[in-house]
Amino acid sequence: MKWNIPLFKIFSDEQDYDLIHQVIKRGSYWTTGPEVEKFEQEVAKYVGLKYAVSFTNGTAALHAAMLAYGIGKDDEVIVPSFTFISTANVPLFVGAKPVFAEIDTETYGLDPEDVEKRITSKTKAIMPVHVGGAPCLIEELKEIAEKHDLLLIEDAAEAFGAKVHGKMVGTHGDIAMYSFCQNKIITTGEGGMLVTDDKDIYNQLKLLRSHGRADDADYFSKSETNDYISLGYNFRMSSITAALGLAQMSKVDKIIEMRRNVAQQYNKNLGGISQITLPIERPGCFNVYQLYTIMLESQEIRDKLKSALTKDKIMTKVYFDPIHLMKHYQNMGYTIGELPQTEDIAKRVLTLPLYPEMNEEEVSYVTKSIRNPINKISEG
Ligand SMILES: Cc1ncc(COP(=O)(O)O)c(C=O)c1O
Repeated sequence: MKWNIPLFKIFSDEQDYDLIHQVIKRGSYWTTGPEVEKFEQEVAKYVGLKYAVSFTNGTAALHAAMLAYGIGKDDEVIVPSFTFISTANVPLFVGAKPVFAEIDTETYGLDPEDVEKRITSKTKAIMPVHVGGAPCLIEELKEIAEKHDLLLIEDAAEAFGAKVHGKMVGTHGDIAMYSFCQNKIITTGEGGMLVTDDKDIYNQLKLLRSHGRADDADYFSKSETNDYISLGYNFRMSSITAALGLAQMSKVDKIIEMRRNVAQQYNKNLGGISQITLPIERPGCFNVYQLYTIMLESQEIRDKLKSALTKDKIMTKVYFDPIHLMKHYQNMGYTIGELPQTEDIAKRVLTLPLYPEMNEEEVSYVTKSIRNPINKISEG
């Protein structure tokens, strides 16, 4: 479908092209070049943690985090079902069990009370998600993790730059992941990053990322061979990708401001329509609006609205259909009805287009297309 208004658009400029070209023209170190470490340092500095390790994508990064903390067979990881499939898949990669907990109706992130109920002697970690750039109840979840001596692994894939009481999301737990996939706050096409303050974990992550190879930094520029001291993968980000990451980092605050402005226009245009619940920014929180998700009163209204917008060539999407209802998870024994709140929310949400350069006219086109069917639905 050729959309009049797509769901997202990448924000890029000359600097993105320039930095990539520099690496290509250099003709060497297209992998393990200085850009990789520099990008990692910039991200660590931006969020205020000591260490950052880049990966081919966010899923590989979370997989490495599971391995670095020794999460495996017979362990349980508490995750939301209202998220992208990776969040629940990564415990499965290492033989652990994802245990789904409910989400709260405001942030769509894990509900701390429900999380606490699902802790067992097998629980090793809580992995909350900051859905669509909105900080979840991370302070409350941190308290629970500390009380029960559990790891707190933040899936901050969608929330780079979001804050709670001035503290970046991704810095509340033991480790966090940011994704740089093309619809995220900044993007390198594919890419991901883990951030932590733990030096041992940092060292392990570097081994996991590159074949378990000792003295990895010099591999391509020295004639001696290396020892391989543990089992590892090739999850390395290329220098070209990292160069793009550096260029994107230089404008991250501008991108976030542009996103927030678009969200404000939506809030203004859609405010006061009683049938629509708008995304919220809780007091003390800073939402980066990776997604702009509205909630309708019923699935029927949501689906009618989605069809009306599709007719106007406006792309929308349901973020997210619950993971426990996916075929693969149903085959594993997860059942319909086990998370009533999550299932209800998932039936009623709809994500609208939002991208940094979306102008007032485009927002108005979307919001007018929403008002007409909503008025008709209310009348009918
Ligand atoms: C919440 C969440 N977790 C994990 C991921 C996985 O990241 P990636 O696509 O970089 O592998 C994504 C990205 O789509 C995501 O939105």
